[in-house]
Amino acid sequence: MKVLQVGVLSIWLSGLLFIALNFYATRNLTIFNSDRINHNHFNHSGPKIAIFTAPAPFIGSIGSSQSLAMRSWLGLSPQITVLLFTQHPSAVAFARDFGSRLMVEPNIDFTFLGTPFFHSMMARAWAFTSDIYVLIDPDTILLPDFIFMLNRAYKINRDWLLVASSHNVSRFPFYLSDDGKQWLTKDGRRVRTHEFQEILDQSQQGNLCEGKMLMAWNSGELPLNNGVFPPFLFGKGTHNPWVISEALLCELRFVFDASLTVSSFSLNDPVHWSNQFGRVSHVTDAEKRNWEYVGNSHLGALYGSSSFHEINSSCLAKVMNCYGKYNFVNMAKNTVFPVIHERPFTWKEKFFHSSSLKKTMACVDDTEASNRRLDCSLTDQLKTSAPLDYPFPLESLLSVVADKNRTVVLAVAGYSYKDMLMSWVCRLRLLRVTNFVVCALDHETYQFSILQGLPVFNDPSAPSNISFNDCHFGTKCFQRVTKVKSRIVLQILKLGYNVLLSDVDVYWFRNPLPLLYSFGLSVLAAQSDEHNRTGPINLPRRLNSGFYFARSNNLTIAAMEKVVKHAATSGLSEQPSFYDTLCGEGGSNRVGDNKCVEPETNLTVHFLDRKLFPNGAYLDLWLKKNVKGACAKIGCLVLHNNWISGRLKKLERQVLSGLWEYDITTRMCIQSWHKTKLMS
Ligand SMILES: *[C@@H]1O[C@H](CO)[C@@H](O)[C@H](O)[C@H]1NC(C)=O
Ligand SMILES: *[C@@H]1O[C@H](CO)[C@@H](O)[C@H](O)[C@H]1NC(C)=O
Ligand SMILES: *[C@@H]1O[C@H](CO)[C@@H](O)[C@H](O)[C@H]1NC(C)=O
Ligand SMILES: *[C@@H]1O[C@H](CO)[C@@H](O)[C@H](O)[C@H]1NC(C)=O
Ligand SMILES: *[C@@H]1O[C@H](CO)[C@@H](O)[C@H](O)[C@H]1NC(C)=O
Ligand SMILES: *[C@@H]1O[C@H](CO)[C@@H](O)[C@H](O)[C@H]1NC(C)=O
Ligand SMILES: *[C@@H]1O[C@H](CO)[C@@H](O)[C@H](O)[C@H]1NC(C)=O
Ligand SMILES: *[C@@H]1O[C@H](CO)[C@@H](O)[C@H](O)[C@H]1NC(C)=O
Ligand SMILES: *[C@@H]1O[C@H](CO)[C@@H](O)[C@H](O)[C@H]1NC(C)=O
Repeated sequence: MKVLQVGVLSIWLSGLLFIALNFYATRNLTIFNSDRINHNHFNHSGPKIAIFTAPAPFIGSIGSSQSLAMRSWLGLSPQITVLLFTQHPSAVAFARDFGSRLMVEPNIDFTFLGTPFFHSMMARAWAFTSDIYVLIDPDTILLPDFIFMLNRAYKINRDWLLVASSHNVSRFPFYLSDDGKQWLTKDGRRVRTHEFQEILDQSQQGNLCEGKMLMAWNSGELPLNNGVFPPFLFGKGTHNPWVISEALLCELRFVFDASLTVSSFSLNDPVHWSNQFGRVSHVTDAEKRNWEYVGNSHLGALYGSSSFHEINSSCLAKVMNCYGKYNFVNMAKNTVFPVIHERPFTWKEKFFHSSSLKKTMACVDDTEASNRRLDCSLTDQLKTSAPLDYPFPLESLLSVVADKNRTVVLAVAGYSYKDMLMSWVCRLRLLRVTNFVVCALDHETYQFSILQGLPVFNDPSAPSNISFNDCHFGTKCFQRVTKVKSRIVLQILKLGYNVLLSDVDVYWFRNPLPLLYSFGLSVLAAQSDEHNRTGPINLPRRLNSGFYFARSNNLTIAAMEKVVKHAATSGLSEQPSFYDTLCGEGGSNRVGDNKCVEPETNLTVHFLDRKLFPNGAYLDLWLKKNVKGACAKIGCLVLHNNWISGRLKKLERQVLSGLWEYDITTRMCIQSWHKTKLMS
């Protein structure tokens, strides 16, 4: 903690002189001077402040408390801008009233339940230009002492991180004036300072380990932590203690607790917590909560056990307001120093003995005695480890992700393809295709997918040990994996859902589903593996079982059952089983140049136009300098990265072609707002 001490000292030195000059006679701990609530005093030249949060949908009582909270932020200063991370349309409607001061950002990573990822929010925040960044819960009401604190903190001559826990209230009894600048009572009178004080006194303040809190930091040079943020979910605990302990441990920034000088109120609405981001209504809250908290606490344990030491809370300075002056106090170290911004000057020991310092110390003693200390261990929070079990049965998962036509996009993936899986997922998210579901071939992929917020299920009957490096076309592993695919597809069809099976090495340019629907109910549409540029595309063994659309109906189910049965007894992969079963050995069921009709069920197999659904050999598209451009020219909807041997070669050509959407180091989808930064 040496660096911290030095930093603390330098702040101390920079301002000690002023203590003596500024003492008032009052013994009251002022929340803020009421005259300062007058907004005409605000100076437009203060630091730019960006507040960001992820709101629940603006509906019902949650919507009103969020709205009140956000208006309370915007009323504090014209320098404040609010950034909302959400994909819910109600937020866009809400934002309309505030012009450029309140913006909605849907382009970050969300889980399939609609909960935003903390690390993605942080990255987006940093990409936003501001002097100060604030992360807060969407229903936390702020009072003007917040802005006074920030204006002071802004002048600290090193990089800092402010944390403050919120007061817990069941109801906030005041109203904001129409311009959002004044708090009024029920009968329209301005609220007096002591009335706020009463609410503060009556309500419970959380601590920094549990409970709601806000964080603020200056843009500065230093990051908040070393390395990358784990993919925590926003609003599910864990990330706040994690940031605090990281910041303290890394000793990068000066970290201080402003809970005593920043008045913030959080409404404890139990409804709020159960369905916070609510994309989904027909899954029980317990299921959702389990899924999210299990993932988060698992992450905490994962990162906690490896990189955390016990956090010594006495290393955290507190800010206190004595006689209207802000001071940093560290009880453990017996230090007090004012939060002042003037130029540094030489420290003289005699200040220790000045009567003013004694006075301040007395005030601090008094105040501190009546306030709880941080007697909790931040690391305990992070060590609660729950097993990553299986809270979502396949049926629930399908009902959550399927679209209105009861259609899902299925990917089947093992661990060696996890990055490609993510790139594929990011691409689908970018195309706003949300009805995908992932079947994990092994436990590692299952865990990985949960932590990435993907709707994932295990195939309990999958052969174990199929996730090694060279599970590519032609290998034994490949055969086993592909047989999992047809079995899972059949299972989902039987549950009443249409399935678009897409290998994760199929890059989607556009959503192919609208076109795929057009073939009708009695058609199974599949990619052709024909590499010839002309001629029929339904020749023997040309059916690619890595991309096909199967409708949930009796004839398709009957046909798929035959395929699965054939595959189970075949020594080959399932691909020949598909062709031989549906099109007949040697192509005896071929109809025309692009179809087969399976005689027993009358299911039609439609081979998809190779221009629109090219395989990896067609036109040598992957060898083109500009793969994207070449595909655009022929109108590709998807492009399969097959016809190449070896996982790494496959990965390489996809990354090099720019058809790659996932940043492996930050574990985030690459978004337009940080594309340049990440790629450079
Ligand atoms: C605090 O201020 C109020 C009025 O603002 C006064 O009534 C009260 O006595 C003061 N308390 C102390 C301890 O001075
Ligand atoms: C207000 O802004 C002016 C310049 O626009 C500056 O000179 C002045 O110091 C500011 N006052 C405060 C209280 O920040
Ligand atoms: C907030 O208040 C509610 C009800 O009074 C209580 O159940 C909850 O534990 C409180 N939370 C904190 C962090 O104090
Ligand atoms: C925490 O720090 C204080 C002062 O730096 C020290 O006296 C105390 O022993 C430390 N506690 C732990 C648990 O390390
Ligand atoms: C549902 O299917 C119909 C055709 O059956 C199609 O026109 C429509 O676009 C589909 N809806 C969605 C959301 O895909
Ligand atoms: C798992 O696969 C690897 C790689 O082929 C092999 O060496 C190992 O023996 C397999 N283990 C089991 C239990 O089959
Ligand atoms: C490709 O098609 C042409 C004409 O349709 C045919 O002559 C040629 O043999 C085919 N090549 C392969 C490799 O199938
Ligand atoms: C489909 O199969 C189910 C069960 O085998 C049967 O009850 C149903 O009548 C069939 N539907 C059609 C349209 O044949
Ligand atoms: C398939 O179609 C033929 C000709 O239309 C018809 O005779 C036969 O009954 C059909 N089979 C099934 C299973 O529907």
